[in-house]
Amino acid sequence: MKCLILFWSSGGNTQKVAQAIEKTINEQHIEVDTLRITEHLEINFDPYDLIFFGSPSYQWIPPEEVQHFIKRTLKRERHGVRPLGAPKRHRTFSIAFCTYSGVHTGEREGWTAGAYMAQFLEHMGCFVLDQWYTPGKFQGWEEGSLYGKMGDISQRPNEEDIRIIKMKTNEVLAGLVD
Ligand SMILES: Cc1cc2nc3c(=O)[nH]c(=O)nc-3n(C[C@H](O)[C@H](O)[C@H](O)COP(=O)(O)O)c2cc1C
Repeated sequence: MKCLILFWSSGGNTQKVAQAIEKTINEQHIEVDTLRITEHLEINFDPYDLIFFGSPSYQWIPPEEVQHFIKRTLKRERHGVRPLGAPKRHRTFSIAFCTYSGVHTGEREGWTAGAYMAQFLEHMGCFVLDQWYTPGKFQGWEEGSLYGKMGDISQRPNEEDIRIIKMKTNEVLAGLVD
């Protein structure tokens, strides 16, 4: 089995979650590539059995850098042809993970970003197993991190958040390893 972790992070929250996933996979002695989304990143999903795709929520959706990556990747994948339906890859599973601050409306502020990423994965032909949401401090907005709808998130993702991510990763791996 081979895993891929693709993520984008500006303030480090999503990176922390990505690193926790990576560490957990390493501990199981399973092969994993971890890649940060950059302007020109091109990635072929074919070699992977399990793909983790992570991003923060910016105004309820992934940031522009992630949206551009998604659009570029889908376009390349389709070779200029718009298929009817999304052809399924043979046994490629995936998880979308999102970090968010939820200052204004709470947990729901992450949901659309997670759903957006999950739709990308599904359009790429992956089976989406789950969407994971982790609160993360709002970089540069102390008031928002202390007094928003999620309460005090100034230290998050914290140890407990990371423990949960590791537990969920182990659960997914246990379900997929032959
Ligand atoms: C420009 C900007 C817009 C944001 N918009 C939202 C938002 O709409 N909803 C939300 O819950 N969090 C929002 N956040 C908070 C981030 O989603 C949150 O802090 C996330 O964990 C940052 O991830 P990172 O540290 O990996 O970059 C925003 C942060 C920034 C910088």
